[in-house]
Amino acid sequence: MKNITNDKVTAYICQYYHPVNEDLAHLREIGERDNVPIILKETEMILTTLLNLKRPAKILEIGTAIGYSSIYFATVCPEAEVYTIEKNEQMLQAARHNIAESGFENRIHSLFGDGQEQIEKLASQGITGFDFVFIDAAKSHYRRFFDAAVSVCVPGALIVSDNVLQRGMTVADEYDTHGKHKTNSRNMREFVEYITSDQDYHTSLMSIGDGLAISTYRGDYEE
Ligand SMILES: C[S@@+](CC[C@H](N)C(=O)[O-])C[C@H]1O[C@@H](n2cnc3c(N)ncnc32)[C@H](O)[C@@H]1O
Repeated sequence: MKNITNDKVTAYICQYYHPVNEDLAHLREIGERDNVPIILKETEMILTTLLNLKRPAKILEIGTAIGYSSIYFATVCPEAEVYTIEKNEQMLQAARHNIAESGFENRIHSLFGDGQEQIEKLASQGITGFDFVFIDAAKSHYRRFFDAAVSVCVPGALIVSDNVLQRGMTVADEYDTHGKHKTNSRNMREFVEYITSDQDYHTSLMSIGDGLAISTYRGDYEE
């Protein structure tokens, strides 16, 4: 990924990427062909490690797109319920089609609307207890997505936020060559500052893919 990782190193790492199955390999091809920003291969590799360690039972995702990552979550975690939120109606239609094709309609609950609003709705319906969250939607809104997600998480939950380095623009304005992403960069910097300084979480920042923040929610844990 531009300004974050070395292309040769990424190409080397991605040689060792193995699609979870043929259906997901095909959906990745479609996503890449149609320029849908689905999770990068190297991001998927680290997510698989985290999911294998965590073995989550209830996964929340903000940003469904065509359903690639939600189908991936349901495949890697065969016992888990997946709730995924998408605010673009056309994307959601494509996702619902792909989810139906995957056979996971009974375990992937796709919700239409804004991430924060839909999480609040879930909470009002008593749907809480998430132990894995993946934030992969509008980059300027990560803090409100994160706060809403934490309110429906159990202590010990893992919250993974994708694209936190934004092709380097979060790190330095010089990477925002046309100066078009100032608001996104400022908001992402504030988000990173927030999740790395709050005592309720431990967050690691990783220069994988477009930058990942991996937060563990300490919840009500005693020191
Ligand atoms: C990077 S894509 C998600 C890719 C998907 N997670 C995957 O890897 O297959 C981000 C998606 O978030 C959606 N989105 C943007 N703002 C949103 C919001 N406020 N609430 C929910 N979804 C949103 C976009 O429409 C887009 O489809």
